[in-house]
Amino acid sequence: MEIIIKDDFAAISAEGAKIVADYIRRKPDAVLGLATGSTPIGLYQELIRMHSHEGLDFQQVTTFNLDEYVGLPATHKLSYHYFMWEQLLSHININRDNVHLPDGMAADIPAYCKGYEEAIQAAGGIDIQVLGIGTDGHIGFNEPSSSLGSRTRLKTLTRETIADNARFFERADQVPRYAITMGVGTIMEAGTCILLASGAGKADPVAKAIEGPVTAMITASALQLHQDAIFILDKPAAGKLQLQEYYEWVYQNKDNRARAAAPIQAGP
Ligand code: PGA
Repeated sequence: MEIIIKDDFAAISAEGAKIVADYIRRKPDAVLGLATGSTPIGLYQELIRMHSHEGLDFQQVTTFNLDEYVGLPATHKLSYHYFMWEQLLSHININRDNVHLPDGMAADIPAYCKGYEEAIQAAGGIDIQVLGIGTDGHIGFNEPSSSLGSRTRLKTLTRETIADNARFFERADQVPRYAITMGVGTIMEAGTCILLASGAGKADPVAKAIEGPVTAMITASALQLHQDAIFILDKPAAGKLQLQEYYEWVYQNKDNRARAAAPIQAGP
């Protein structure tokens, strides 16, 4: 795992956006896995800036979102559809046909979820998946006790997640109780996973995810088994990591490490 610790929200947003943008520049038809919530908003603003000022081109990019509330139509202001178009998709040159968000109004949810998995496969799999982390350690809406092999499916939200998300709704009883979410197994198949976390409220789940045991009780801990997982944390979110100094040391020496790993040139 790569653990990148930055000073603040602006810096983690810039770092995350740089990783995504570099990928798109190398592979213009990249398949992105996207997340909602407060955390990726800065990353999306940075991608929008790169699109309008640096010509970052989304024409051939495909996106799949992690999750959606069940029962909210795409037009609902608190649906994740609405969020994604508002925060990113309307502001870049993405082809509407390449955008995939789970349909919270699907009539047959199991069949719909199976089709969502098939669409990811048909697109060639997700190259780079953006993730946040819940205060209960979830990725997507994979709440504690979700199978680490789970696929896209209907999930009942925990009281903690409902309370966390109530800030966006007028009343807590308006927060949907169910969501469609990619599974942990689905997420784990992405080529690269980047998880962003900001604020002291995330310090506990972040420490458990990175330094605790791999457990279905903290589904983000499954990323310990991923070959290319990058955690991008601001200082408060990194506050409970035991090896914080080591991670910063590794990051500072990244260039030297790359040189050390390069093949030794034959002598004269
Ligand atoms: P947040 O949500 O970015 O709004 O903190 C993260 C999550 O629940 O995955």
